[in-house]
Amino acid sequence: MMDSGAPVITIDGPSGAGKGTVAQMAAARLGWHLLDSGSLYRLTALAAMRQGIAFDDEAGLARVALNLNVSFKPTNADEPARVLLKGEDVTAELRTEGCGNNASRIAALQPVRDALLQRQRDFQQLPGLVADGRDMGTVVFPNAGAKVFLTASAEVRAERRYRQLKDAGVSVNIGDVLEEIRARDDRDMNRSAAPLKPAEDAQVIDSSGLSIEEVLDRVMVAAGQA
Ligand code: C5P
Repeated sequence: MMDSGAPVITIDGPSGAGKGTVAQMAAARLGWHLLDSGSLYRLTALAAMRQGIAFDDEAGLARVALNLNVSFKPTNADEPARVLLKGEDVTAELRTEGCGNNASRIAALQPVRDALLQRQRDFQQLPGLVADGRDMGTVVFPNAGAKVFLTASAEVRAERRYRQLKDAGVSVNIGDVLEEIRARDDRDMNRSAAPLKPAEDAQVIDSSGLSIEEVLDRVMVAAGQA
């Protein structure tokens, strides 16, 4: 594998553990690039739906993944980049529960994962990269200098997600949120293609009782960047 020699910090873990926020803050603090790999799976699911590709058409889905016309438009350091599909801002649509669930379904297919591999590796650019996902440390950047596996109990993750949705004006039942989180965890951990698990050399951080700043500090220590 050719790489640019740029340092990489990988942050993997289940949905709702706070990876996205922490990865974004770490990248901003270091002035490094950020890869939100989940957005590529979400984009593939969205583009496939729009093109009428069935979720059991593996070759068709892999083609969609390979040909994704995506660009990331940076905002200010405190906000996630806007995601453009063929120039159209689809950021809000990508964050919906439906899109996340569809992403988790197509992410179980090896041809889809293979099709997205090089696109993810291309993000390894100087001065460095913070990569957020499920298999960043195990599959995409196995040689990363620092690997973190960020986790939290399903109950804590459901509570956080519930509050986020409520703040966004979406009315949901916390029991349903918990059930969906458990179903997604189960699918991500028990699939045969790149199952969610800590890399052998990853440092596991449980964010359950921690503030986001405390998590960020621990990630920086784990990465030797404190
Ligand atoms: O992280 P996010 O919730 O945006 O990811 C959506 C889905 O994409 C996850 O539930 C997971 O199934 C899949 N995914 C993956 N590998 C990654 C990132 C995301 O399988 N590196």
